[in-house]
Amino acid sequence: MFGKRTTIGQGATPARPAAPAMPAAAPPPPMASAAQSSARSPAPPPPLEAAPQKSDHYYHTKSLIFGAMIEAIDLSQLSKLDSASARDELRDVITEILALKSVAMSIAEQEELLEDICNDVLGYGPLEPLLARDDIADIMVNGAEKTYIEVNGKIQLTNVRFRDNAQLMNICQRIVSQVGRRVDEASPICDARLPDGSRVNVIAPPLAIDGAALTIRKFKKDKLTLEQLVRFGSISQEGAEVLKIIGRVRCNVVISGGTGSGKTTLLNCLTNYIDTDERIITCEDAAELQLQQPHVVRLETRPPNLEGTGQVTMRDLVKNCLRMRPERIIVGEVRGPEVFDLLQAMNTGHDGSMGTIHANSPRECLARMEAMIAMGGYSLPPKTVREMICSSVDVIVQAQRLRDGSRRITHVTEVMGMEGDVIVTQDVFIYDMTGEDANGRIIGKHRSTGIGKPRFWDRARYYGEEKKLAAALDAAEQRDDKVA
Ligand SMILES: Nc1ncnc2c1ncn2[C@@H]1O[C@H](COP(=O)(O)OP(=O)(O)O)[C@@H](O)[C@H]1O
Ligand SMILES: [Mg+2]
Repeated sequence: MFGKRTTIGQGATPARPAAPAMPAAAPPPPMASAAQSSARSPAPPPPLEAAPQKSDHYYHTKSLIFGAMIEAIDLSQLSKLDSASARDELRDVITEILALKSVAMSIAEQEELLEDICNDVLGYGPLEPLLARDDIADIMVNGAEKTYIEVNGKIQLTNVRFRDNAQLMNICQRIVSQVGRRVDEASPICDARLPDGSRVNVIAPPLAIDGAALTIRKFKKDKLTLEQLVRFGSISQEGAEVLKIIGRVRCNVVISGGTGSGKTTLLNCLTNYIDTDERIITCEDAAELQLQQPHVVRLETRPPNLEGTGQVTMRDLVKNCLRMRPERIIVGEVRGPEVFDLLQAMNTGHDGSMGTIHANSPRECLARMEAMIAMGGYSLPPKTVREMICSSVDVIVQAQRLRDGSRRITHVTEVMGMEGDVIVTQDVFIYDMTGEDANGRIIGKHRSTGIGKPRFWDRARYYGEEKKLAAALDAAEQRDDKVA
């Protein structure tokens, strides 16, 4: 193969003597016995689509009981209680009403009705059971009648239904009011966050034609680890090893991918391998990253308030960050002109900075960066912009959600330099799709491109990681030979 390593053991010794003993080298904490993603929640409930649709009789009875309940209790008094006592109080009242009206319902149905009404009054109504499930990645409500969820990369319809669009709007309102915002005809678009960290977007009528559309990206308490990604086949063992080294030796990394392709997950994984003595500053639209290091400052953007003022953009944050003596800057999602400031940071001694960008290939990612710099109003010649990108970004990691719902890391690509006006890149690892099995699952494999000595080799040596890097690259190549 080409590009063989000849410099092992030569040249500078690692500047940080402590390097080999760093936690980056230690295996991450062992996972719970879970073998599959869905197994991570303690007891995965049965899939919702298996549950029968609730009957009209059920909804009729519910609205009857609901009406009687509203008559019977003072809601303003209820709001003064803590949520557990309020729930107890409600249950008592409803049980009494059920007995009085002697409704024809089984005990199980009555219990369900009780929960249902409590959720409506105190929580997020029909959404509660979905919010309680840990295996759901996204909840998508398209008006009162249809609610979809994403589980294990697949979108499925649920039997969750709202009484009507007014109830749905009520719940949307309840969610966004917690962050001091309002959603109505006058301001029909709104971002918010649930107390558990889940991200919420609401777009209401008249913009959403068939009733409010509510989208929730559930917050995952236990983020996936690189070991799990290997187990899922998202990346090969050797690829993961190389990613760890990339994170540890302060390469500037851009993670590229489409919506829900696993960018944030991957970014979170990479940050695991940062040394514990580095000062890290994170900038996000909604705090999602879970850094384990002790010295982290977390920053979050702020949307404008009801009067349209007070906005703090990602760009403001990244700029400010530079005055906070960061050693690494981590930007959750680079969407606009802040890319300029991030690249500058990468370029001026804050190496090891990272961010994610919405793009479908490493090439497209480079083009996106160029376009985003132009968005900032800089009229720099394209070549200057490209040179800036080249001298800042070391590695692009591409994530992709394939059509069978699985997520793969499809490229680990190095930015090499300029040739004329063009940025030259070099793939270190790629994912080859070879076909599809009978169940529609995509078959493919990760393979190394035979690069014996990537550009970040010298960095790896500086941090005393070059033996590990060599071992991982060799192992990848040997495996490829065996398969071939
Ligand atoms: N490799 C993977 N295998 C399985 N699920 C994944 C993988 N990567 C991410 N996920 C899940 O996919 C969802 C979206 O991931 P996220 O990192 O938030 O995507 P993005 O930031 O690209 O929008 C999350 O629920 C996450 O747990
Ligand atoms: Mg994300």
